[in-house]
Amino acid sequence: MTLLRDHDLAHAFDHASRTYDGLTSLNPGYRTDLLRSARRLRLPGGGAGLHLLDLGCGTGASTRALLTAAPLARITAVDASAGILRRALAKPWPARVRFLHLTAEELATAGEGPFDAVFAAYLFRNVTDPDAVLGSVRALLAPGGRFAAHEYSLSGSRAHRALWTAVCRGVIIPAGTLTGDRDLYRHLWHSVLAFDTAPAFAGRLARAGLTSVRVAPVAGWQTGIVHTFLARDGHPATTPEHAP
Ligand SMILES: C[S@@+](CC[C@H](N)C(=O)[O-])C[C@H]1O[C@@H](n2cnc3c(N)ncnc32)[C@H](O)[C@@H]1O
Repeated sequence: MTLLRDHDLAHAFDHASRTYDGLTSLNPGYRTDLLRSARRLRLPGGGAGLHLLDLGCGTGASTRALLTAAPLARITAVDASAGILRRALAKPWPARVRFLHLTAEELATAGEGPFDAVFAAYLFRNVTDPDAVLGSVRALLAPGGRFAAHEYSLSGSRAHRALWTAVCRGVIIPAGTLTGDRDLYRHLWHSVLAFDTAPAFAGRLARAGLTSVRVAPVAGWQTGIVHTFLARDGHPATTPEHAP
């Protein structure tokens, strides 16, 4: 199957935006796992004085996780899909949170940043050139800044790959077909199979020049299927917030 990319993917998310929150709320652990990953950033002082980026924010579930983990931080949340951003904007947010209609690829030249931390939940598997986006992330991170990706990235074991296919065939694709979004949820299935395994993505982060790369599993049925990837910008921190 050809994966959806760029404009086609944004269009598919525009259409799916009506039912996205409903479908993800059927996934046990979707929101608690996002919060676990956001908390793993270990942002100090409730995020006071920090500027955070939520890259590929969708309808705001990952933004809410960041806000819960760092309630005093300023957050910029960006997404390529206008439809999905409209859903995010319809929710109540403090003034410290703002949403921008931008692609991850456009962000580097949009005059945004630097950011004290970048959170990207379910983004990297969807981009055409993950190395280029990681290069932008590095450029956007303040010296010593923190990075977390929360991603469907399989462990590499045959059992986890088979479980993922079973869940997609048995639950995710039938549910997505009912909402008229079959192509997007088939893309989800195949994009996970095609994406880096967790050790491979960790290696990609290190090759991009990020340091202190760590991988942590999530709990529940997604163990071995979803991981948190943590890393730091390798430049010396200039403020105490960024000190290890
Ligand atoms: C699976 S959703 C996850 C949304 C959100 N982070 C969450 O955890 O619920 C992936 C999001 O990434 C966005 N996306 C995909 N490719 C993108 C790109 N190149 N630049 C910015 N956003 C992108 C999609 O529009 C979609 O909203």
